[in-house]
Amino acid sequence: MKRRPIVAGNWKMHKTTKETEDTILSLKNLISDVFDREIVICPPFTALYSAISSAKGSNIKIGAQNMYFEEKGAFTGEVSPIMIKDLGCEYVIIGHSERRQYFYETDNIVNRKVVSAIKHLLTPIVCIGETLQERETNKTFQVVETQIHGAFKSLSSEQMVKCVIAYEPVWAIGTGKTATKEQAQEVHSYIRHLLSKMFSKDVADQIRILYGGSVKPENMADLMSQPDIDGALVGGASLEAESFSKIIKY
Ligand code: PGA
Repeated sequence: MKRRPIVAGNWKMHKTTKETEDTILSLKNLISDVFDREIVICPPFTALYSAISSAKGSNIKIGAQNMYFEEKGAFTGEVSPIMIKDLGCEYVIIGHSERRQYFYETDNIVNRKVVSAIKHLLTPIVCIGETLQERETNKTFQVVETQIHGAFKSLSSEQMVKCVIAYEPVWAIGTGKTATKEQAQEVHSYIRHLLSKMFSKDVADQIRILYGGSVKPENMADLMSQPDIDGALVGGASLEAESFSKIIKY
């Protein structure tokens, strides 16, 4: 089954509104001839408006890096799905390992956010992945299974096909240490197998599973040669238009 690749940039806590505008305007020129894959940029909340204005009329789509699951209310400091949708966002990253690690997001919170994102017609990019210690003690599959069940257990097949998954081994994030294509493929294929058991083979075949963790222009093509790798979620190497455009055009 042919799945449309997605190359998404996660800018994390980087870039002001002006820096966002400059980067997106440069990127626009570099990738204006790419139409066979989805290109997504996820800037911080404060730069979303600037990103959406700068990306207008191009093939670049914009996503948020997080959201709260409630629509509105007394939740100081939080941002709702209605608010990011209203700006023009089409995607939202959910359950990134930094959110799990520093802001104590649990699988249960991830699940509530996924359900809320779909309800508000946002495509959730749901992150999962094991730590180095978990990999070294042979717990990778167990951890991935717990996270996949936790994030998607309550979804119908119709909801599930609207999700994108990003497998991001925590030990590969920001470390320069990319998983080999074999290591990534092994987990991607396991995730697809889990989805096929939880939903159906048809659902599992439709879901895009992105790899994330030190993706660079030099290793993207290798990763994309694998049958179950459908794109990438890129941190550091997405901050500059030049390097991100090379990844997009792998
Ligand atoms: P990295 O980050 O590409 O800088 O390793 C990836 C991510 O955290 O999404």
